[in-house]
Amino acid sequence: MAEADESILNKGLEGIVVATSEICKIDGANGKLYYRGYSIGDLANGSYEETSYLLIYGRLPNRKELSEFSATLVRERELPKHIVDILMALPNDTNSMEALRTCVSALGHGARDPREVSLEEQTRMGIALVAKFPTIVAYNYRLRNGQQIVAPNPRLGHAANFLYMLFGKEPDQLDARAMDMDFILHAEHSFNASTFATRVTVSTLSDIYSAFTTGIGTLKGPLHGGAALEVSLMLEKIGSPDKVDGYVREVLSGHGRVMGYGHRVYKTYDPRARVLNNMALEISQKRGDMRYYEIAQKLEGIMAGEKNLYPNVDFYSGIVYHHLGMPADINTPIFAIARASGWVAHCVEQYKNNRLIRPLDQYIGPLDLKYTKIDDR
Ligand code: ACO
Repeated sequence: MAEADESILNKGLEGIVVATSEICKIDGANGKLYYRGYSIGDLANGSYEETSYLLIYGRLPNRKELSEFSATLVRERELPKHIVDILMALPNDTNSMEALRTCVSALGHGARDPREVSLEEQTRMGIALVAKFPTIVAYNYRLRNGQQIVAPNPRLGHAANFLYMLFGKEPDQLDARAMDMDFILHAEHSFNASTFATRVTVSTLSDIYSAFTTGIGTLKGPLHGGAALEVSLMLEKIGSPDKVDGYVREVLSGHGRVMGYGHRVYKTYDPRARVLNNMALEISQKRGDMRYYEIAQKLEGIMAGEKNLYPNVDFYSGIVYHHLGMPADINTPIFAIARASGWVAHCVEQYKNNRLIRPLDQYIGPLDLKYTKIDDR
């Protein structure tokens, strides 16, 4: 191996290609996104189950395969008793990302050495986690709000069942479709921070539960999945379209960040935001409440003009969540629920063609300092 050149610094790994992958292509310059070669705009019309199958197995399922895969997800939704006990024992101020991180870690207690587990079995374990994420989030939400948990409904698909377990009633068709579409659009995004974190974990030949736990912890931050929560809070704070101008100028003059804007890879409109913009419009019209959508439109115009920055996926999803009646602290867990199938695909790809991920740093501290005994310091 050639000697590494430590003088070349790429802070935040920006612009560094670390692996080949067959899962996802982001065309940041042209605002395009493909899962396994299929455009996100086309996949958004299907179901999360179909997209998950595609991501995990690398091809679109036929009807029988989709129905078997969906049945597996339904079968795996239930939580073992010890996980429900853990959820009940968590302090009331535990938010759903924290609960998810704890429960996924606990599900992995006693996990077998990945070197003794076939890729098929790794995939099955990953799919079981995809199935359990919504149950953990919904149970945690209801418990910490003093409500009875609502068991999964086997007649409902992944997205509709999540809304059912969260709110205790079956969603109508538009709400279920909005949730499904949002899951599809958040399911995968190449080497984003949380997915990369799962791959780093797997690259040490650690288990998939540990990888998912790492992923959840990484997704939680406000510069990644946490932005969805910040967008909802921001829309609430702005309150009406006439307040947008003042709000943006105040944030920008303080060198702050307008949440839901900008992206490390997209330098134009995030294609997921485009699809969600249409859904946000449809659901706002159906509810007869255009306030947040109008705020969003105004914000978009100002950000494009002032900063040449465009909405990312979290921006319009904030409006969709508002109309779904989603509590703001569930926004980031929704992202985790959706991204779980992307994580399965990446963990398996990393196991398949592994190389320990171990970058270098550029050391800027002193060298050859004189060591003195503790009593002489
Ligand atoms: N609001 C205001 N200014 C911004 C924003 C924003 N949302 N995003 C970037 N900028 C500005 C920066 O201030 C900087 O300006 P400067 O050069 O004058 O200092 C310039 O754009 C470049 O910003 P960087 O931070 O270098 O860009 P980076 O690629 O690291 O940022 C990031 C990407 C972190 C997503 C950033 O755009 C941001 O903080 N956005 C808000 C948080 C957010 O929405 N995160 C969700 C990301 S999508 C996702 O995880 C699904």
